[in-house]
Order: sequence, then C-alpha cells, then structure tokens
Amino acid sequence: MKTKLEAIKNAAMEEIKTINTPAAMEEFRVKYLGKKGELTAILKMMGSLTPEERPIMGQLANEVRSAIDALITEKSADIKNAEKIKKMKEETLDITLPGVKKEIGKLHPINTVLDDMIDIFQSMGFDVVDGPEVETDRYNFELLNVPADHPARDMQDTFYLAENLLLRTQTSATQIRTMEQRKPPIRMICPGRVFRADEVDATHSPVFHQVEGLVVDEGITMCDLKGVLEQFAHEIYGPETKVKFRPSFFPFTEPSVEVDVSCSECGGKGCRVCKGSGWIEILGAGMVHPKVLAGCGIDPEKYSGFAFGIGLDRLTTTRYKISDIRLLFENDKRFLKQF
Ligand code: PHE
Repeated sequence: MKTKLEAIKNAAMEEIKTINTPAAMEEFRVKYLGKKGELTAILKMMGSLTPEERPIMGQLANEVRSAIDALITEKSADIKNAEKIKKMKEETLDITLPGVKKEIGKLHPINTVLDDMIDIFQSMGFDVVDGPEVETDRYNFELLNVPADHPARDMQDTFYLAENLLLRTQTSATQIRTMEQRKPPIRMICPGRVFRADEVDATHSPVFHQVEGLVVDEGITMCDLKGVLEQFAHEIYGPETKVKFRPSFFPFTEPSVEVDVSCSECGGKGCRVCKGSGWIEILGAGMVHPKVLAGCGIDPEKYSGFAFGIGLDRLTTTRYKISDIRLLFENDKRFLKQF
C-alpha cells in the first residue's frame, strides 16, 4: 500500500507539469482526490490492514493528499497568473501607432459656385425651386412653345425613356411647373442637372448643370432682364466686367438674347480661354413668349416676364480655370482636393 501511495504521489507530481488550463486542473483534481479518485480507492482498502498498520498508512495517505492539494493550489495560482498576463498583453494599446486619419469632405466646385449664385439671386428676392429630372414631353417641350414638329427639337438631342417621358434637356420645365402652381408675382430660380445626347469632349458632357430663372409680374420689361443679369454678372465676375447682350432665338422667349461677359482671363484682349474673341458666353435669356404664359394660365395681356438659363459648368470652369469639363464629373479625389 505504501508503494501504491508513493506511486500516486509521484504520478501526480509528474502529471501536474503538463497541466495549463483551469479545465485540465479540475480533471486532475477529480482523478486524484475525487470520490472515485485514485487516493479514495486506496483509502477504501484501509479496512483490510492490521490495527498497527492502519495509523501509519492513514498518516501516509494524509500526507500524500496534502502534497497533492498543495500541488493543485500552487499550480492553480500559476495558471491564473499566466492567464492574467496573457489577457493584459492582448489588451495593451500601442499608443505610438499613428491613428487612422479621417478625410474631411469638401464642397464640389460646382456646389461652391451654385451656392454663390443662390446667394446673389436670393438677395434680389428670388426663391429656389426644385423640379424632377425625368420630365414629360409636355413640360420639357410642348408648353415651352416647342411643338412636336418644331425644328428646335432637333437642336436638342434628347434622351427619351418612353414615348412621352424623357430626361429633361433644360430646367425650363420647372419654370412651367411653377407658373402652373403659383400666381404672379413670381421670382424664382431652379438649379439642376440636365441631359442631352452630346458626344463627350473637353467642353461637352451629356449631363450638365443649368440655373434657370424666371420673373413674372405686371410691367416687367427688357430693362428688368438687363438690370438683373448685369447685376448678376458683376457679382460673379467682378464690377469691372463688361456685359454684352446679343440677339438670339429661343422658342419660349421673344425677343431672345444671349449674354456674353468680357473674358476674366485676359480682360477682353483675347486669349486661349475666350478663343481670341475677348468674350465668354454665359447664358441665354429673353422675354417669356405670350403663348407660354397663356399655356400656364397666366394672362399675357396683364402680365409679362423674363427668363434666363445659365450654364453652371461653364461658370465653374472659367472661375477656377479648369481646362476640361470632364474633370467636373469624374470625381477624381486628386482633382477635387484642390478646391
Ligand atoms: N433653356 C435654354 C437652353 O437650355 C436657355 C434659356 C432659358 C433661354 C431661359 C432663354 C430663357 O439653352
């Protein structure tokens, strides 16, 4: 029995070295000290010993139990400690690592110019109105005095979605919607994207931006048109800028004009930007055609108005000296970061 007890002790001392998890530790404890454990099994055999042997073996068994107990206590503490160190290592923060930089967004140059335009027109009492990009034939052409067989429809190559549904070719459609919904006096601008089936090159894009404006009231004349647009050009390009009104044609305005400003690059002498002419065209405008007013339920005998359409992309490229309109739509971060 003595040898057996010693063997158990030795085995325990060997086995404990391999243990390194709390679960294995518990298994170990049950194996040696549990009710069905090896030591208990030997103690059960005590009855067969002589009365002289019993106390000696009892003492020895107790010693073995205490020794194993001590092993367990010591090893458990070690395991706990090791786990704590491991956890702490896992949770350490390396505060010398550089942080993850958050990139700060910026306004697209088109939005910056648009915000300026909105400020200018709002200070003259204009509202900002939004309209749908998908339009009906009626709002984009018909009510703007461009009937189905009108040659102006060839001027604007249109993206049709269905027979009567298209991507608007001009924000003028929103002006019609406004005239249908509101009574004069009306003073509004409608900025937005417009679409034409143009080939892409440095100055053309099938998607571009317009800011159209409309004023309808009693006694509105060409003088009001001139005054508002001159004021606008001076605020955008500076007070020294010259503004030129040229006769033009649009089906929805009569008379119609196109407006040029003196080239801000060369001051009007002629350069690469203005193609030597000294002028840059920035918008189309005119007095709203009486037919258009009448079509929207506004009496052309009582009211008159003017409208204008400004190309926002051209304004942006000239202000920032951007040589290619495509840069405005590609959204290359290296380009956008410069503004
Ligand atoms: N809608 C015209 C265009 O796209 C511009 C314009 C608007 C002209 C309003 C006159 C009046 O070219």
